[in-house]
Amino acid sequence: MGKVTMMLAIALVILHLVSRCRGGVTSSYRRKLEASVDMPLNSDVFRRPPGYNAPEQVHITQGDYVGRGVIVSWVTPVEPGSDLVLYGPASNKSKYQAHARLTTYKFGNYTSGYIHHCKLKNLDYNTLYYYRVGIGNSSREFSFTTPPEVGPDVPYTFGIIGDLGQTFDSNQTLGHYASNELAKALLFVGDLSYADHYPLHDNRRWDSWGRFVERVAAYQPWILTAGNHEIDTVPEIHETTPFKPYIHRYHAPFKASGSTSPLWYSIKRASAHIIVLSSYSAYAKYTPQYEWLQNEFTKVNRSETPWLIVLVHSPWYNSNNYHYMEGETMRVIFESWFVQNKVDLVFSGHVHAYERSERISNIAYNITNKECTPIPDPSAPVYITIGDGGNIEGLANNFTEPQPNYSAYREASFGHATLEIKNRTHAYYSWHRNSDGIKEVGDSAWIYNRYWRPDE
Ligand SMILES: [Fe+2]
Repeated sequence: MGKVTMMLAIALVILHLVSRCRGGVTSSYRRKLEASVDMPLNSDVFRRPPGYNAPEQVHITQGDYVGRGVIVSWVTPVEPGSDLVLYGPASNKSKYQAHARLTTYKFGNYTSGYIHHCKLKNLDYNTLYYYRVGIGNSSREFSFTTPPEVGPDVPYTFGIIGDLGQTFDSNQTLGHYASNELAKALLFVGDLSYADHYPLHDNRRWDSWGRFVERVAAYQPWILTAGNHEIDTVPEIHETTPFKPYIHRYHAPFKASGSTSPLWYSIKRASAHIIVLSSYSAYAKYTPQYEWLQNEFTKVNRSETPWLIVLVHSPWYNSNNYHYMEGETMRVIFESWFVQNKVDLVFSGHVHAYERSERISNIAYNITNKECTPIPDPSAPVYITIGDGGNIEGLANNFTEPQPNYSAYREASFGHATLEIKNRTHAYYSWHRNSDGIKEVGDSAWIYNRYWRPDE
């Protein structure tokens, strides 16, 4: 090899290494890539509670704008049964009572059980409540703790799960999450049961999912986002109303935030203002979701809730070949608002892998200026894709190469995350991969609040 050729080869190798190292980390960690399998319907995790017409699929969510309300939901399989929820503090567990609203729905040949939703209002902050549903021997008791009063320096820890499904891997993720004692409420970024994986969207898989997650969802609120697997339309059996099973089964306090749909809404909880958006509802200019979001940003008060967090199913920044650029139209419409309003974090699902972005934005483009590449932007959110709950579709192990500069860390493993808000300036974020039956931290970062610590 001639001297010039040799030098050229060395230069090329160096150039290649530099270009590979400039972006973030693509983790090579890998435990499992075989298909994920749904747990059979006769599994223990799906077992019906004992007793005639016993309430099942018990779950709660925040029931108002500020955290003094809880919506308790459950299903009775045989007949409506009692609509009462008895609740109270440890000293008097049945001090109060509230009545539920009943709903049912049909889906093809399937008829749902009796679905109850009951709003408990004017609860005290930061208080352990017990609640009971059902009658006599079949009645069941659960508990929850209300959040502290909304305030700028209130520490609070959220869990984050997406695309959970009901496989053996889903069970591991849920188990790992349940063993995490810090997390007090779950931010769920869409794709719940994957019932639509079955012929005619066998809705019995919505029931089994409800029984599966009860061990967590009955004790702490799940702040839910709708994903594409919640759309559930089957035209051949005339099921053409989008989100029908989801909306019947899972309620949200959307009216409290001035929304006209349970698919997009917001809540305040402790020191966080959380905005939930719908990737699969209209969001272009003049649509209800667009107008609601525009107005919602004017209501955010960072002196009251320093942390501004958005949940949306389809990610805007995703360097996986799966679902690549599916969130692009929403990004183009809303991203400038996110930067102007200094959103701290955006959590998404949809892609069955994990990815964390740098703070970047891509809002300069005006058709003629060619400025259409994401650039570092201290006012931009960190985007986290966490669609790795463990559903039946398996892992998305096909990242684009090379790793783009905006991608800080990515890995095709199942897991969940936690966000530990410490005060108005600092939050500690960590992602916990499922690793051979145990959980271990795969990625972590201190998140500095965009409003109170914009320089860091
Ligand atoms: Fe999805």
